[in-house]
Amino acid sequence: MTLRSMLLLGALLFAAPLAAQEAPEPPLAQPTVAPERIVLNLAADPAHAMAVTWRSAAGLPGLVELAEAGDGPDFVETATRLPAQTDDATIAVRETPTLHAAYHSLTMTGLKPDTVYAYRVGDGTHWSEWLQFRTAAATARPFRFLYIGDMQNQILSEASRTLRMGLRMAGDAAFVVQGGDLINRHDSDAEWGEWFAAGGYAYGQTPQMPTPGNHEYGRGPVLNPQWQRQFTLPANGPAGLDRLRDTCWSTDYQGMRLISIDAPQLHGVPESRAAIVEWLEPLLAHNPNRWTVLVLHFPLFSLEPQRDNERVRDALKPLIDKYKVDLVLQGHDHGYGRGTIGPDGPGKPGKGATYVVAVAGPKMYDGGVRNWAEKSATNTQTFQVIDVSERELVYRAYTAAGRLFDETTLRK
Ligand SMILES: [Fe+2]
Repeated sequence: MTLRSMLLLGALLFAAPLAAQEAPEPPLAQPTVAPERIVLNLAADPAHAMAVTWRSAAGLPGLVELAEAGDGPDFVETATRLPAQTDDATIAVRETPTLHAAYHSLTMTGLKPDTVYAYRVGDGTHWSEWLQFRTAAATARPFRFLYIGDMQNQILSEASRTLRMGLRMAGDAAFVVQGGDLINRHDSDAEWGEWFAAGGYAYGQTPQMPTPGNHEYGRGPVLNPQWQRQFTLPANGPAGLDRLRDTCWSTDYQGMRLISIDAPQLHGVPESRAAIVEWLEPLLAHNPNRWTVLVLHFPLFSLEPQRDNERVRDALKPLIDKYKVDLVLQGHDHGYGRGTIGPDGPGKPGKGATYVVAVAGPKMYDGGVRNWAEKSATNTQTFQVIDVSERELVYRAYTAAGRLFDETTLRK
């Protein structure tokens, strides 16, 4: 081997890791007999119901065993076996070959408030471990929840630490709200696999309440085909529009009304926009809860002028002001901002909602003018811990490293 050919070989070897950045899609990991991607979602009445969803190899039935959790192992003797709904799905995904999976879901109803239940899922032969959750109290009572912005990129390798630090520091969170763009490519099953691996068993014990972002949509208003199959969110969105099922929902939790608004459709589909506004107004006008929190992906007030979402703001801001929404949780801008904005807009006096933009994953935008924000940051991954009680709502943002970064208290 000549010196020249040795140098050439060396150059090729060094070039190889760079070329790996354009790696082909990994082969699809088909589900097996073992239940996987187990996730809880709050029902519309979380004091008396809880939804669970998971998947397995195609062709298998879905069963749930449910019992009130006891201090010792005897609870398993009292478990009731319940059949789940099963959707044997064939889905064209980015990876090959085609995905074949049985998606199972069950809304467990008739539950007692403020009670710990144990459950497991399976096909009658192959079972998950027993997982536990607590139902909501039937009346207003202090609780905390987590808000997580876009996970989206390097979901398992780099976004997971934000979620996991949140679950570590607020392990007693009643649920987790996820603000959309959970994944980057709507047709990638591997990215959903990363999202489920990031939360792991926590998704089976702490309900996840996601709203969709633009990355959950393909071209046009076509939602990722897994979304409706892998989440069982409250089916109380705008009536008669199937495309908003499981993307617009609301639930009342211990004195707080939480509402998800499908921002991509609100922005891009006039028919959906009209339906969402018509659905939202009575939810805000006839709200027996002390607190109201909205979650949607596109921020009403952006971190960069060129990312303005005028249509979203025009549709929602008058309702937010009129009905005194307390907190608006948002994502999409890959930075951090938090500010209170009254009816006359940023910088003007007058009470208004508190608007938050946050990102959990590693993708960052530079940011620009953020004159509406009392606190803002670039290049900062955060999770938010929100403590709700009768008199006040305490909002805290922590960085992925666990540093308290921002704090505000809303009082009534
Ligand atoms: Fe986005």
